[in-house]
Amino acid sequence: MANQSTSNPILCASFNQDASCFVIAIGAFTIVEMLFTSSLLAIVGAGEQPSLSPRRLCLFNTMTGTALRELNFLTSILAVRMNKKRLVVILQEKTYVYDINSLAILDTIDTVPNVKGLCAFSPNLDACFVALPASTTRGSVLLYNAMDLHSHCEIDAHRSPLAAMTLSSNGMYIATASEQGTIIRVHLVSEATKSYSFRRGTYPSTIFSLSFGPSMELPDILVATSSSGSVHAFSLGFALCQRGRRSSIILGSIIPEYVSDALDPAHHDVLHNAAPAGVKSHAVVRRVDRVTDSSTSQIVACRATISMVTYNGYFQEYNLTISNRDEYSWSLEREFNLLTVIPENAI
Ligand SMILES: *[C@@H]1O[C@H](CO)[C@@H](O)[C@H](O)[C@H]1NC(C)=O
Repeated sequence: MANQSTSNPILCASFNQDASCFVIAIGAFTIVEMLFTSSLLAIVGAGEQPSLSPRRLCLFNTMTGTALRELNFLTSILAVRMNKKRLVVILQEKTYVYDINSLAILDTIDTVPNVKGLCAFSPNLDACFVALPASTTRGSVLLYNAMDLHSHCEIDAHRSPLAAMTLSSNGMYIATASEQGTIIRVHLVSEATKSYSFRRGTYPSTIFSLSFGPSMELPDILVATSSSGSVHAFSLGFALCQRGRRSSIILGSIIPEYVSDALDPAHHDVLHNAAPAGVKSHAVVRRVDRVTDSSTSQIVACRATISMVTYNGYFQEYNLTISNRDEYSWSLEREFNLLTVIPENAI
């Protein structure tokens, strides 16, 4: 709709659970989520017409172009997450957990007022966590196991309220940022301990997105986008790359080394001006490859593919190469205007 659109026509951009696809919502919709590469979409209206109520979740089949089911709530839906077994619907004071096949409601989590609909979800069925704010005055996180349907733990991550969080795809790590936006923390979910603290910057800024690399062992890389318009990349697992295959040792035992690594500003790089300052953006680490030297077959670098949607209507994809001398180089692989490839009012 034209009234919201001139500067930021995109109302929501979300990547699917394995970061292979993304969907954007423009115009009449505020939420759109995809289930892997299936034909199932969860969509929520922006409320400008009664049929597009922000309190109604529509599960939509993109193959047949039909609504499969609708779920109605008493207050606006702020976020939706899915995996092959669960559908999680986040409202301001309640989070509902459903069986995604039968749509039977399995549990209701009463939360502190979650006005931003903050939520992180790990789609992995063996560590299927939902992370929700646990305080409105501090940066505490409630971790809830959506398969077993019980609270797992609470983590006191920051002194000020949370602004962003993400879980690694294996459910083992959670990264958080507070409204200050200067420090990003990574915690090991199983131990609920602080494991890494990164300084993102000196000046406060709003963190819009956090994303781990897709590795099923230790995530290699964490990227953050913020209102400054820059993309920050933190090298988490690079020491692991250097140690090669010896890496599958018990995670707990390698964490202490990372703590000191993590505080080292050299393990961090910034791509400036990736988006105009203040424009919301969402970046994910789509893949990470290890680059080996052909003669010695040693790992000489990690190369990450970072995809980003900016809410002013662009898709960008970068290769970030991190050499084993900790040199970072970014290259823009592709960029296109989403609004010229998508017809108006499409999802
Ligand atoms: C960017 O990364 C992709 C995937 O790893 C690779 O195929 C491509 O060659 C890279 N491009 C450059 C310029 O290195």
